[in-house]
Amino acid sequence: MAYPKPAPDQMLIEQSPAGLRRWCAARRRAGERIGLVPTMGALHEGHLALVTALHAAVDRVIVSIFVNPTQFAPGEDYARYPRSEDSDLEKLRALGVDLAYMPTPDVMYPTGFTTEIAVGGPLTQGLDATARPGHFTGVATVVAKLLLQAMPDVAAFGEKDYQQLQIIRRMAADLDLPVEILPVKTVRDNQGLALSSRNAYLTPAERDLARQLNKILASAAAELQSGASGREACARAEAKLLAIGFTGVDYVALADPDSLAPLESLTAKGRILAAARIGKTRLIDNLAVEASR
Ligand code: PAJ
Repeated sequence: MAYPKPAPDQMLIEQSPAGLRRWCAARRRAGERIGLVPTMGALHEGHLALVTALHAAVDRVIVSIFVNPTQFAPGEDYARYPRSEDSDLEKLRALGVDLAYMPTPDVMYPTGFTTEIAVGGPLTQGLDATARPGHFTGVATVVAKLLLQAMPDVAAFGEKDYQQLQIIRRMAADLDLPVEILPVKTVRDNQGLALSSRNAYLTPAERDLARQLNKILASAAAELQSGASGREACARAEAKLLAIGFTGVDYVALADPDSLAPLESLTAKGRILAAARIGKTRLIDNLAVEASR
């Protein structure tokens, strides 16, 4: 798609919904397609892959950076969530992002704010919805706000947060939001560890341990393909995680890849999803798995 990329120092930074809206309206009037990548900052190659995927699909890319307070429960890591604004903006400039949107909590949630978007059904009946009550309502509400503020043609989300991706797809469909949700595969390090802003919490020894998570999920996938039940394969994976030093396992589960309803065994396509803790750090990962023919 031929359009002049902004010079690296021309990325706009916008903090108000009104300013964002004005810019997006002008871009649309010029016939340009807009893409949005919602993030909470502390950007890594996983986030940047979403930007790259959008560059191929639209004319202008917006990245929002907003650590959304309403998706953190009391006692979770909102206050200590990694924040690295300057290096985030450098990374976005280097990638030719057109606009960084950085609203503040008081602009997103002014006094009197009371509306929530709560997605129902099996998508929010288990996994992280159970482990983190209220989390997905916070996510759906802020993503709906960001989508309505920018009105992008396309918004990109990572498969790393698979349940979140499915919930956002559901919400966009249910609310007739005129946006295409673009899924992007999980970006991993050279040992398979899914990149995550929260990996910054890990000590080198903990990082080594964290690198076992995807391997243990892959061996559960192989067991499922050899006929193990979901319960057996997931229980074994959970036991392995605890045996090697994970301090807690919220879940290892086999689910339908679309509805995320639990599956007893692998008959066609499935998704293995896990959340486990190393000390205070909570890691999530997931893997596609398909019955071998
Ligand atoms: P955050 O954790 O910053 O992630 C922003 C986006 O990057 C999400 O769509 C997430 O799935 C994607 N992402 C993170 N790590 C990834 C990886 N290793 N590979 C591919 N994609 C990856 O998810 C959130 O923020 C928030 O919940 C948000 C949607 C912004 C709402 O506040």
